[in-house]
Amino acid sequence: MPDVLPQLRHPTAYEMQRALLHAPQLSPRDYRHITVAPVSGAIGAEVTGIALGAIDDAAMGEVVTALADHLVLVFPGQTLAPADQVAFARRLGPVNPWPYARPMAGYPELTELVSGPADIHNFGGGWHTDSSTFPRPPAYTVLQCIEGPDAGGDTSFANQYLAWDTLHETVCRGLEGRRLIHATAKGFGDHSRSTGSGHVTTTPVVVPPEHEGLESRHPVGRTHPLTGRRALYVNAGFAARFEGHSVEESQPLLDALAAHGGIPEFTCRVRWRPGTLVVWDNRCCLHYAHNDYRGQRRVMRRAVVEGEVPV
Ligand code: SIN
Repeated sequence: MPDVLPQLRHPTAYEMQRALLHAPQLSPRDYRHITVAPVSGAIGAEVTGIALGAIDDAAMGEVVTALADHLVLVFPGQTLAPADQVAFARRLGPVNPWPYARPMAGYPELTELVSGPADIHNFGGGWHTDSSTFPRPPAYTVLQCIEGPDAGGDTSFANQYLAWDTLHETVCRGLEGRRLIHATAKGFGDHSRSTGSGHVTTTPVVVPPEHEGLESRHPVGRTHPLTGRRALYVNAGFAARFEGHSVEESQPLLDALAAHGGIPEFTCRVRWRPGTLVVWDNRCCLHYAHNDYRGQRRVMRRAVVEGEVPV
């Protein structure tokens, strides 16, 4: 186990400064087909001036570039029909059904994430990256708001390039070549067994028997295939232990890395309206669905775009 915990637990003033005074995210490039406005200093941009249901190749190319720069793109006022949402997601890569929830009727590639007024648990209510237990975790998630609470139900995102870049260099060296085991049983054990009863969560996650023991080994620092940048690839939701180490040995360092990844200065927070569509890159950001709208309904439609084996 790398002996790097002291550096993570007791950052010096210099390291805190590195963590918090990072350069603000890139000023948007000069786009011809879209208008891009950053939503925080760390991550995320709002994109306007485009209808995603009829996007041509030139505009799509700019969307992909903006995604690489800003990691999370927020498209207000889109209101895509299910087939159009799937078609848009396919422009980013292969779209497969997500096997842990009943798909939307007629659209196997879409999952409807419904929170009812009596729900206690929400879907995605903790820092995580989607399906990191898969050998090829999703590259992108395309999520559209169909119905939302008057207030609440926002989603936060955290930039994991910044998380990696601001780790103490001793920590980075200690993590070099290390891999984490991402375990379905850690992420969804409770959901599939005890909370899938319908009265605490309207959209239960049901893990099919062949996935119950699914685990994948992924690097702690992964290199993004498009940008070549290193991102911290640790998430409290699914990362169970370091390869070659027990859960007990791994937990203190895992907790410290997960806390580092969620530093507020690495984040942005997206407020949803019906018709808002958000695309994020799971390879370099974490997300967190806020569970603060008890008594109200929230309906989202999600497609995930297949990614590559993390390296
Ligand atoms: C997810 O975790 O994929 C869904 C996030 C959300 O509903 O805000």
